[in-house]
Amino acid sequence: PRRIRIPHLQQFKNSGEHFAMLTAYDQYTAAIFDEAGIEVLLVGDSAANNVMGHATTLPITLDEMLVFARSVTAGAIRALVVCDLPFGSYEVSPAQAVESSIRLLKEGLVHAVKLEGGAAYAPHVRALAAAGIPVMAHVGFTPQSEHALGGYRVQGRGNARHTVLDDAAALAEAGAFCVLMEMVPADVAAEVDAAVAVPTIGIGAGNATTGQVLVWQDMAGLRSGKQPRFVKAFADVRSVLAAAARSYADEVRSGTFPGPEHSF
Ligand code: KIV
Ligand code: NA
Repeated sequence: PRRIRIPHLQQFKNSGEHFAMLTAYDQYTAAIFDEAGIEVLLVGDSAANNVMGHATTLPITLDEMLVFARSVTAGAIRALVVCDLPFGSYEVSPAQAVESSIRLLKEGLVHAVKLEGGAAYAPHVRALAAAGIPVMAHVGFTPQSEHALGGYRVQGRGNARHTVLDDAAALAEAGAFCVLMEMVPADVAAEVDAAVAVPTIGIGAGNATTGQVLVWQDMAGLRSGKQPRFVKAFADVRSVLAAAARSYADEVRSGTFPGPEHSF
């Protein structure tokens, strides 16, 4: 299958079609989602929560992201692979953003990077674009800033809509190939999508964006407990895995596994 590349995402936008993005953190899920036709895989810093068990995305390091990046690129044949710049790997300067991103492309073999932040990061985006590193902008609710934002809250309500619009426009103008919006009102996301020429991606941002993204464990129903409003579980993988583990343990305890056909 032909590799999805950045111009293909622009074609989705130009023709009014939608594409799908999922997070992935390892080779099996990357290969499964790739074969299922997911256009973009995100090596999200949400690995901090969804793989490593941290309470926030802040603790994950660039070296840790590289392990997940290399695992996903090992499994993805067709999908475009985008990797998050983790907290602390880009904020200090445009040069720091370029140095960290070079590692993600050179060692992680990803195709593009993503960074969180508003118009203040236009110089970082400009430096990355100048270095030939495709960069996706992440605006609206930005989990790395959750302490500053006072928790998980919808961004861009009321007068704050102008902040989201200005951030998206500034980052697109600086050379971002795509603008991702998290937890912004659907009408604000629609206005951003109409205002910028590049494709947009939403999570909790309504259905007017070019693409959608979900964390794969949320999409597959792996996680227990209350889910955010923007999550839809398209399967109950948690129950499937639990049932498999119970059956395995039952057969071990009863002595029926391994049988003669599994023995030498
Ligand atoms: O890390 C992540 O999972 C993200 C989202 C946009 C889903 O950045
Ligand atoms: Na992220």
